[in-house]
Amino acid sequence: MQATSSAKIEFHDVHKSFRRSGAVVEALGPISLQVRPGEFVALLGPSGCGKSTTLNMTAGLMRPSGGTVLFDGVPVTQVNTRVGYLTQRDTLLPWRSVAGNVAVPLEIQGWSGARRAERVRQALVSVGLADFAAHRPAELSGGMRRRVALARMLVSAPDTLLMDEPFGALDAQLKMVMQQQLLDVWQAERKTVLFVTHDLAEALMLADRVVVLGARPGRVKAAFEVALGRPRDVFSLQFEHSFVAMEKQLWELMRSEIAQGEAM
Ligand SMILES: Nc1ncnc2c1ncn2[C@@H]1O[C@H](COP(=O)(O)OP(=O)(O)OP(=O)(O)O)[C@@H](O)[C@H]1O
Ligand SMILES: [Mg+2]
Repeated sequence: MQATSSAKIEFHDVHKSFRRSGAVVEALGPISLQVRPGEFVALLGPSGCGKSTTLNMTAGLMRPSGGTVLFDGVPVTQVNTRVGYLTQRDTLLPWRSVAGNVAVPLEIQGWSGARRAERVRQALVSVGLADFAAHRPAELSGGMRRRVALARMLVSAPDTLLMDEPFGALDAQLKMVMQQQLLDVWQAERKTVLFVTHDLAEALMLADRVVVLGARPGRVKAAFEVALGRPRDVFSLQFEHSFVAMEKQLWELMRSEIAQGEAM
């Protein structure tokens, strides 16, 4: 199947169901969704509506039950090595050091030892963990582990980032630092980003477009262009009138969606 546009990621009538103890659970869709190259899209929706499933299918870790997932116009039929994926669950290797964990994507790509070590060092500096290269994951706080995972995602410089609630567990201050860092990376390199979050303010702060999914099986309930300029500064943006007005507008939209859902 050919792409109908120049989208980086395309979902055409995709649905996903799981079979569990003989019963079928409809997890997602059908949904159709396009993400343009260099676009930052936030995916928002209630727990269990299929957000992680959407990322898993984009990464080629799961196949849709129906419909097609395209990446650069080509159906995703195997693990998609073009994306960096920061999964919702912590997948650090406990027996490896911080540096050893961050090096994994480069090892898979066959980078030589010296080049690899330098690139890993840079990635750890960028997330503020240069002094923890030799530590094991068990010796780190939850927030630090998250930053190691972030460094591991960025280390191989993928052009597309899939991020599943990457900052949810961080304290408010660190969350802002990491959000700003991600915005700076995005601003400089214009990666395509599909970013899952529960946090409406975070979605607006970061994204060009917010896509709201309804309760399971998730379908696109609303899509919202974020009319805020770039570059953005998360520290000052939260107090700006345009941001607060937009947050209110999106809340109202979501509230009416929730009310409609309950009425059905
Ligand atoms: N591998 C799997 N096997 C069986 N069911 C699954 C599997 N993965 C997901 N599901 C089910 O599919 C539905 C959607 O799951 P998913 O993890 O995509 O939700 P989510 O929107 O990411 O939720 P959360 O916000 O809680 O992370 C849920 O009902 C979940 O139980
Ligand atoms: Mg999830």
